[in-house]
Amino acid sequence: MPYPEEFTGIGVISTDSWRTPQRVTYPAKSFDPRDIDIQIDACGVCGSDLHTVQGHWRPIRDKMVVGHEIVGTVVAVGSQCNSGFKIGDRVGVGAQVLSCLECERCEEGNEPYCAKFVSCYNRPYDDGYVSQGGYASHVRVHEHFVIPIPESIPSELAAPLLCGGITVYSPLRRNGCGTGKRVGIVGIGGLGHMAVLFAKAMGAEVWAFSRRNNKREDALNLGADHYIATSETPGWDSELKSKLDLVLVCASSLSDIELDKYVSSMRVGGKIISVCIPEKHEKLSLSAFGLAGVHVSNSALGSPEEIRELLALVAEKGIKIWVETLPVGESGVSEALQRLDKGDVRYRFTLVDFDKEFPRD
Ligand SMILES: NC(=O)c1ccc[n+]([C@@H]2O[C@H](COP(=O)([O-])OP(=O)(O)OC[C@H]3O[C@@H](n4cnc5c(N)ncnc54)[C@H](OP(=O)(O)O)[C@@H]3O)[C@@H](O)[C@H]2O)c1
Ligand SMILES: [Zn+2]
Ligand SMILES: [Zn+2]
Repeated sequence: MPYPEEFTGIGVISTDSWRTPQRVTYPAKSFDPRDIDIQIDACGVCGSDLHTVQGHWRPIRDKMVVGHEIVGTVVAVGSQCNSGFKIGDRVGVGAQVLSCLECERCEEGNEPYCAKFVSCYNRPYDDGYVSQGGYASHVRVHEHFVIPIPESIPSELAAPLLCGGITVYSPLRRNGCGTGKRVGIVGIGGLGHMAVLFAKAMGAEVWAFSRRNNKREDALNLGADHYIATSETPGWDSELKSKLDLVLVCASSLSDIELDKYVSSMRVGGKIISVCIPEKHEKLSLSAFGLAGVHVSNSALGSPEEIRELLALVAEKGIKIWVETLPVGESGVSEALQRLDKGDVRYRFTLVDFDKEFPRD
């Protein structure tokens, strides 16, 4: 059965075989009158895709198609949609595809913190259908989570903004990143490199923290004012006592991060915010000594409204994230996941050429 009953994607059959994804077909979610169908043109490859296919967080569904940085073209609009989307519009979808839309959190623009959060893939809807992501021909999503893409941002550069970008923009924005603030970004990967770009565009003085020295030149080219290779600079924290207002931890694991050193680098009232979602067994290691006056918390994604705001900022300031493209397909997805696992990407993969892998009528 072709679209609209069935979608085609590049899926992982089991966590043991994540290196050899396969072309799969699967039934589409039932069409809700407020759903929009998107024919996909580009999809970013997020660290969360890798955690998911490796089974770091929870078991995966059969024929798991990941990918939640989706840009494509509207091909169907439900009869009760009222957001004004039309067939042919270029739109995006990030890592969240549903929330209750009526609780206090949703009404306050905190949809990612809603108890009824449905993620773009590997999460059941109320009817038991388990969501499937964007390494695929199509995705079907509630209109509230569909975002218009500004004309000036090419699809391959827009896609990673929809999860990675918003995940760092939201906590920067909500925690006062701006002119006169000293902001540290820890872990210079997909999320971290975008955080450096955005923090700089927001006017902050930026410290890039990476484990080694090999990203120094890149980080400075991204706009960082300072670079610290934490594993190669014993005592790096002694220079930074009581200096930083905000630290955003963007790493995919906390195993090589000495959080206590960041705590002593904070000003009173300073905030350490992590967006890292590591393997399930990892624990936050933090000494209670020295925590006085410092806030520590986690942050999740950002609201659809904040995604629109981020896209407007990127368009207005002409911010260019660093992307390598690969063709979607069994071999492109395999290469993207394996190279991301090795940290061999500068700094985000976006899968492209969807029209070749999933021919259109
Ligand atoms: N909270 C949310 O809503 C949300 C949303 C999206 C993603 N995430 C999570 O954010 C994390 C980063 O995603 P990403 O796409 O940016 O991944 P990524 O491109 O793989 O970058 C991760 C970076 O983490 C650092 N790192 C890797 N292994 C480490 C270790 N053992 N100890 C310390 N640092 C390590 C590396 O930076 P250096 O080489 O510079 O040290 C690496 O470049 C993932 O855990 C992902 O699941 C969370
Ligand atoms: Zn993501
Ligand atoms: Zn809600």
